[in-house]
Formats: sequence, structure tokens, C-alpha cells
Amino acid sequence: MLLAFADERSLAEKLAHELGCELAFVAEHRFPDGELKLTLPGSLPSSVVVLRGLQRPNERLVQLLLTAKTARRLGAKRLALAAPYLAYMRQDIEFQPGEAISQRIVAGFLGDLFERVVTIDPHLHRIASLDEVMPGSKGVALTAAPLLGRYIAAQWSGAARPLLVGPDEEALQWVQAAGEVTGLEGIVCRKTRHGDRDVEVEIPGVDITQREVVLIDDVASTGHTLVQAAQVLRARGVAAIDVAVVHALFGGDALDRLAAAGVRRVWSTDAVPHSSNVVTVAPMLARAIADVL
Ligand code: R5P
Repeated sequence: MLLAFADERSLAEKLAHELGCELAFVAEHRFPDGELKLTLPGSLPSSVVVLRGLQRPNERLVQLLLTAKTARRLGAKRLALAAPYLAYMRQDIEFQPGEAISQRIVAGFLGDLFERVVTIDPHLHRIASLDEVMPGSKGVALTAAPLLGRYIAAQWSGAARPLLVGPDEEALQWVQAAGEVTGLEGIVCRKTRHGDRDVEVEIPGVDITQREVVLIDDVASTGHTLVQAAQVLRARGVAAIDVAVVHALFGGDALDRLAAAGVRRVWSTDAVPHSSNVVTVAPMLARAIADVL
């Protein structure tokens, strides 16, 4: 059985279809004081997959705690979490004395609740794999960059080919993965982050005048990284800028600022539900879940 929440219905239906399994929803009631009451189906099969992306994560972590414990009580013996977006992965060291290393704490919390955690492009910067924070091969990290790459390539016909641009060095992995399946060329920029909403982006000194470019990244949150990159690309005389991200968090007026910076189109996967979704991760996610269960 796939257990999901109503605000992820679209991906849940596709995933249940791919898995060929029953789909049920967790009913949610919010008390006036903010507490949650969750209701699961009265009895559960022995294998249950819970779909919950961890965008806006704080409340969803509580949902997962209540859901996993209740599912066990109702008969689930084997519980897998499909978290297309895994939050708290960027705070992976103690930057200042006393800071919580959220990546380890959140990964450990989920690893204690579920036998397997399947996710897509978690932001693993200073660690090589999820195994380092979720030992025992509990964590399975997929990448959607090839799916995005194929979608991007299909938007151009004839001899015209866009240039893939990663807005920072970490994006090299997505530029490469998208390039490998499409033959598209790519470059990456250098980013210096001065604050949550203050980043500086520099582009390598290659000639990109009149090229059509696609900025590709794992996640867009405030959008500042992409906006800065777009501004620098425009100053370098590119012909057009499109954006493709795996996780479309896009808080506040991020899309408006991207448009103002000259971005023509924004594409994303449905790992996070958003108006820019054009590529589904459901078949890839279903194959991985079938493998681990
Ligand atoms: C970090 O390096 C990530 O890959 C993204 O570039 C970053 O999280 C995007 O954040 P924002 O949209 O807030 O600039």
C-alpha cells in the first residue's frame, strides 16, 4: 500500500499506478492550538510505502513520526519512506560552534522510523553518500538530472543546441549527468554565498555570446542563485536563458524575480509539486521502491 497526503495527490496517483498498489490517504485534522491529528486506514498490509516530500519540513517531520509509529501499530512490518525532496541536507557541518548538524540528526531520525528511505538528488555536499548519515544502506539516493536533460534536449530541434550552465561548482554533477544522456555541452559558474539572500556568481571566461543557455540545479529556494546567474549570463550576451531544477521550492516572489532577470522558461520535476513541473519522477521512484521492498 502507498500512503500519501492530499497535497501530494498528483504524484501519489502516478506512483501507485507505477507500483500497481493500493493508494490510501492519511487524513489530517489540525486542532486550534496547532497540534495535528492523523488518521490512517484501520488496518495495513505488511509492506507500506509512505510518500512525503520534505519541503516545508518542520511540520512534515512530525507527520512522519506520527504516521510511522501508527502504521507499525496497525500492522505494517516493513515501512519505506519515499521522500522525493529530503530537507535539512545542507547543514552538514558545524559552521559555528554550537550549531546543530541538522543533516545527521534528520537523517538519523528518518532512518530510525523507516527500513528504507528513497529520495531524489539530496544535497550531499561534503559527504559522498547517504550511507554516511543513514548507515546500513537504508538511504537510496536517485538522480533526476538525466530526466531533466532529456526534457531540455527535446525542446530544441535541428542543429540548435543549448548550453547547460550550473550556477555553482556543486551543480557540476547535474550538468554532467544531463550532458551524458544528451550530449549537451556544459559549464559551471563559481558561487560565493554571503547570506541566505546574498550570493555572487562568476562565469568562466568562455565565449557564450548569442548562445541559448539552460541553468540547471538541484534545488531553487529563494531563487537568488539562479537570479544572480541569469543576470551575469545576460551581461555576457547570451541569446536566451531557461531554468531547469529538480526541486522547485521557489519561495516568495522567486518566479517574478527570475522573469525580471530575463529567464524565459522555468522547468522542474514533480519531486516537489509546483506550477513549473514538466517531468515526472514517478517511474524512476517506483522502480527504486520496488527494488528495496
Ligand atoms: C546550493 O548550493 C544549491 O545547489 C542551490 O544552488 C541553492 O540551495 C539554491 O538556493 P537559493 O534558491 O535560495 O539561492
